[in-house]
Amino acid sequence: MPTWWSGAVGYEIYVRSFADSTGDGVGDLPGIRSRLPYLVGLGVDAIWLTPFYPSPQADHGYDVADYLDVDPTFGTLADLQALIDEAHGLDLRVVIDLVPNHTSDRHPWFQDARSATDAEHRDFYVWKDPAPGGGPPNNWVSHFGGPAWTLDEASGQYYMHLFLPEQPDLNWANPAVHEAFEQVLTTWFERGVDGVRIDVAHSLVEDPDFRDNPELEQPFPEATSTQLIFDRFAHIHDLDQDGVLDIYRSWRALADAHDAVLLGEVFVLDPVRLGRYLAGDGLHAGFCFAALKVAWEADEIRDTLQAHVAASGDALAWPLSSHDDPHAATRFGGGPLGAERSLAYFTLLACLPGVPFLYQGDELGLEDGVLDTASAQDPIALRNPGVAGRDPVRTPMPWQPGPGFGFTTGDPWLPFGTNRRDEHTMLAQSGDPASPLERTRELLQVRRELAEHLRSDDITWLTDEGAVIAIERGDELVVALHVGDGDGPAEIELPAGCRLAYASAAEVYLLDDGRLLLPEDTAAIVELSTEPEGPRT
Ligand code: GLC
Repeated sequence: MPTWWSGAVGYEIYVRSFADSTGDGVGDLPGIRSRLPYLVGLGVDAIWLTPFYPSPQADHGYDVADYLDVDPTFGTLADLQALIDEAHGLDLRVVIDLVPNHTSDRHPWFQDARSATDAEHRDFYVWKDPAPGGGPPNNWVSHFGGPAWTLDEASGQYYMHLFLPEQPDLNWANPAVHEAFEQVLTTWFERGVDGVRIDVAHSLVEDPDFRDNPELEQPFPEATSTQLIFDRFAHIHDLDQDGVLDIYRSWRALADAHDAVLLGEVFVLDPVRLGRYLAGDGLHAGFCFAALKVAWEADEIRDTLQAHVAASGDALAWPLSSHDDPHAATRFGGGPLGAERSLAYFTLLACLPGVPFLYQGDELGLEDGVLDTASAQDPIALRNPGVAGRDPVRTPMPWQPGPGFGFTTGDPWLPFGTNRRDEHTMLAQSGDPASPLERTRELLQVRRELAEHLRSDDITWLTDEGAVIAIERGDELVVALHVGDGDGPAEIELPAGCRLAYASAAEVYLLDDGRLLLPEDTAAIVELSTEPEGPRT
């Protein structure tokens, strides 16, 4: 583990939507730099920046045309260096997004690859002849809809793309691809970045024989959305292949030499399977995506978290939301209740072994933006009529009341959403102790004060059923989340003399006799007394 990782709190910045310094409506690096003091004040230790590389933006930057530079839309390399240096001066770590599964079709490697079958970079990509009867080489489908293969007319061969046709997959069976990425990593570590978030880290390697994925028994008659079509198959040959771990093993020494983290976007929901990526000399850490798929249901939350902690302990990163998934406040019911639940849930996540991650706006209790279909930008929405896609969670950050919400002086690239109000802004919530912002700030401050109890893997699950999920950390802390069952506040008996270190809502009480009164949809952190009990008089 990097020395700075354990005990840290992460924050995902969706670069396009965080802060625009130029008025062109798109967030940029100088904009982020201007907001670093805010992030430090919030109590964040590390930021993860989504891709800022030169890119045609077919998938908003996840189609990289140059791994070592900055797209002019977001600034310059000098702006990035200034951001890294300033962050370090503020004791903030900077994690960047590395996209090794695919490049843009405009990347010079692909341009060269498609120029001739014997081109130098041809084998950087996955090319196959058509199936014997014609058509794509196998039945694999793209995450974004349609087949995972596009015919290159010039050569008569198909190239593979598990995402858009504009995102051709790299061929990791080719040692030259490994060498190229070692160069990329070395360059970024030498520029001072503190780690990489590895995009679709469970991908990269495919079945050597490119066998068809088995089709599952279809639980739905009309599979029209991309997701449903994708879910029709058991992805046993295109994803989560054993060989992918060797790639991370080979990066590990490089990262360790720079005290940098390898943080995987391992979208594998089985805790044991995920744990394989995080054990030993593979990735240092990986996101637990199951944690952002749970319903507001106590047993589901408890079982999910418990199974992941058992498998991977403090190698987990806990995303509250992300640029690909709805905000927690939306997932958990929306409105003030959704915001309350989001904070309560984050309180528990923040006290589990591992590193909790906020996605921008989570600290404001933000719900997804309500957008009309005409403003769709996400390729998922554009390619799949009727599918909302990921735009609603990517609406720009509302900093302050007024036109452009302090995000931009121009027209934002994506609307804020018709549901965005002044009270959702950072400025409106600042200084109001009952606001999601101030309560999140307080949570992170308390977490920092209690960090020594939270660093280890030591955890006891105190409840194995019921609406309250309670854990004990390091013999000194009890953390409880009341998911609610319609029966009103829960009463939890704790030893007398403990201290309420944090409550996600004002209505949480700790009585002198040690009874914790925890309303539904709230959470609390209680510090158990470490003082030996004196004689009673
Ligand atoms: C990851 C990213 C997502 C992107 C995809 C393809 O899942 O988080 O935003 O579209 O990879 O790169």
